[in-house]
Amino acid sequence: MGDVLELHPTYPVRTERLLLRPLTTADTDALLAYRSRPDVCRYVPFEPMTPEVIADRLAGMWATTSLTDEGQALTLGIELAATGQLVGDVVLFFHSRLHRGGEIGYVVNPDFEGNGYATEASRALLGLAFDDLGLHRVIGRIDERNEPSAKVLRRLGLRQEARLVHNELVKGEWSTELDFAILADEWRAQR
Ligand SMILES: CC(C)(COP(=O)(O)OP(=O)(O)OC[C@H]1O[C@@H](n2cnc3c(N)ncnc32)[C@H](O)[C@@H]1OP(=O)(O)O)[C@@H](O)C(=O)NCCC(=O)NCCS
Repeated sequence: MGDVLELHPTYPVRTERLLLRPLTTADTDALLAYRSRPDVCRYVPFEPMTPEVIADRLAGMWATTSLTDEGQALTLGIELAATGQLVGDVVLFFHSRLHRGGEIGYVVNPDFEGNGYATEASRALLGLAFDDLGLHRVIGRIDERNEPSAKVLRRLGLRQEARLVHNELVKGEWSTELDFAILADEWRAQR
């Protein structure tokens, strides 16, 4: 840790109810079940996904299982420990080695919303980001209208720092962006 700033998790990463682990081609149908839905994609930077896009991602960006340098992103599936069902995924972006900065994101299948899975998985991801990778600051950026997502970030202890009015054109509409952040010291203080 410390100066090394690399993350090589031992999989699966276990929480009370969940297993976080890399996605595989066996997850294709479960991924399609939510990542192909326009309602799921409304406030995220990707379009509803086809099987081809899922296959491309699995072979590309989602094949990453460790973080060794800035610019990389680690995407992990959220699996229910009790049933083996894939219910969503989380991502940790390693933005800057110099500033020790990163960002989190999460998506949960609407059929499994309202159970605290996004919060539980993201809390484990923040643990990896701060305690194992050694980040100093982690941000979350959301569309202001995405209230369920704001609640996830607040539950995790992130503070709102900025409101960027009509910052990006997302799916044909101006999106007002809320920026949240948490520092390593704040993470340790709340544990
Ligand atoms: C954002 C998103 C992940 C939130 O999902 P979620 O299930 O509401 O979030 P959580 O996992 O934190 O669950 C919290 C809810 O579960 C409830 N809950 C039930 N059992 C619980 C438990 N055992 N532990 C914790 N929470 C529990 C909480 O009360 C809370 O409900 P509330 O918000 O009505 O109070 C989901 O809406 C989503 O995937 N949206 C589409 C993609 C997206 O926009 N991603 C974010 C991009 S910035």
